Amino acid sequence: MKRRKRTGNPATGTADGPASSVSPPLPERHLPKVDEPRRRTRALVFHPYLKDGRHGPPPGGRAAPARLPEARLAEAVSLAAAIDLEVVETALAPLSDIRPATYIGSGKVEELAALVKERGIELIVADCDLSPGQQRNLERALNAKVIDRTGLILEIFGERAQTKEGRLQVELAHLTYQKSRLVRSWTHLERQRGGFGFLGGPGETQIEVDRRLIGERIAKIKTMLQAVTKTRGLHRRARQRVPYPVVALVGYTNTGKSTLFNRLTAAEVLAADMLFATLDPTMRAIALPSGRRVILSDTVGFISHLPTHLVAAFRATLEEVIEADLILHVRDIAHPETEAQKADVLAVLGDLGVTDDPARGLLEAWNKIDLLPPEEAAELVGRSAGSAAAVAISAITGAGIDALRQRIDAFFAARDRLRTLRLNAGEGAAIAWLYAHGEVVSREDGDDAVDLTVRMTPAAWSRFLKAYSQATFVQAAAAQ
Ligand code: GTP
Repeated sequence: MKRRKRTGNPATGTADGPASSVSPPLPERHLPKVDEPRRRTRALVFHPYLKDGRHGPPPGGRAAPARLPEARLAEAVSLAAAIDLEVVETALAPLSDIRPATYIGSGKVEELAALVKERGIELIVADCDLSPGQQRNLERALNAKVIDRTGLILEIFGERAQTKEGRLQVELAHLTYQKSRLVRSWTHLERQRGGFGFLGGPGETQIEVDRRLIGERIAKIKTMLQAVTKTRGLHRRARQRVPYPVVALVGYTNTGKSTLFNRLTAAEVLAADMLFATLDPTMRAIALPSGRRVILSDTVGFISHLPTHLVAAFRATLEEVIEADLILHVRDIAHPETEAQKADVLAVLGDLGVTDDPARGLLEAWNKIDLLPPEEAAELVGRSAGSAAAVAISAITGAGIDALRQRIDAFFAARDRLRTLRLNAGEGAAIAWLYAHGEVVSREDGDDAVDLTVRMTPAAWSRFLKAYSQATFVQAAAAQ
């Protein structure tokens, strides 16, 4: 199982009740059972956009590729579904201007207020970035809880983060966001609805206490993060002793990463038709056609307009990508917005600093070719066969998977070389170094010498020569 359902997020109160007093996480045994049936919150999702095509300031601060409002709305609905909201209404809100008080115009506010009443809606998801004031005013006017895009993404991160660091980063982002939004107006909403604790608005008397507690908790998390980062360094060093290179699957949400991961590893990994089926990487060793072993790492789905202030939380979950030897970018090639999705993924990889390293490989898997008309699929297969940068596949039917394995193999074959060397038996440190930084494929121990065949990257080989220039090699030759 790739995904472990969590029992709640101490920062948000998700699933466990309101986070009105921010307290340290409860020990696991005090939390309710995850399988307890939970009524889904009835939600309305709306996407506001400027009619003349101008974009509001992109939340991430960088220009986003133009998207059709309908596609943006569909993405927001999928995001909402990823945290188990029951989306009972959706709406587009074309605007001539963004209103400072409520973001959308008063006519639209009235229209939404009527829907809230008629359809018993408890939560409004505004697919935009709202200021705390706008959020408060909308909550008053609509008489329901309102969350914006950042709030929604934080909920998803909160549910999906699995590593300790991922959880802390998400909690930190959430508390920082929540702190600016502790406002009295939430009180009457909480009371009216009896509080379902989804986003955990504070009670009236709690506000000042909460603000102080949140401040304290933020300070504590920062200290904990420092400790975790240190431990992570240790883990990374431990992993570097595993001599296999890492292939990281990345891609826009729903492009088929988990499905491909399953196919390549034949492992039981949950592949649900949901955005963010994964947040933390799952790693498995697989064998390629040549017998070479690599570690495959399944990672989070990317989304468009990832707010930059969430990048740290996101980054914490993407350690394997940042350090991967080869990035396998899984694309839904049958999606009408496949090019815009690709641009988003590359932009996020750029933000993470992943694209800076020229030694890292980047290979595209053009997935879902089974959804295309046969002649289009054949054209893509032909085009990718002639390119070193892409392979056309279907993770569902298995088409192109052998070609993909071969292509990954070829990448590493071109990069790594087998070296055979004989070292004096007394050179224990040099031998240990080879085990730590290369893949020792054969070893023969003689009376006073050790013969080794080691697969290593050119960079590791030159580091070895530098570090152990004193070691008495009897022979050092490149094979293969
Ligand atoms: P996130 O974790 O949300 O980022 O999604 P993902 O990229 O891991 O996608 P996932 O593997 O969950 O697949 C999303 C949906 O696409 C599922 O309904 C899959 O069955 C479907 N899917 C994946 N690969 C293919 C394919 O090759 N062809 C078709 N037709 N559907 C596919």
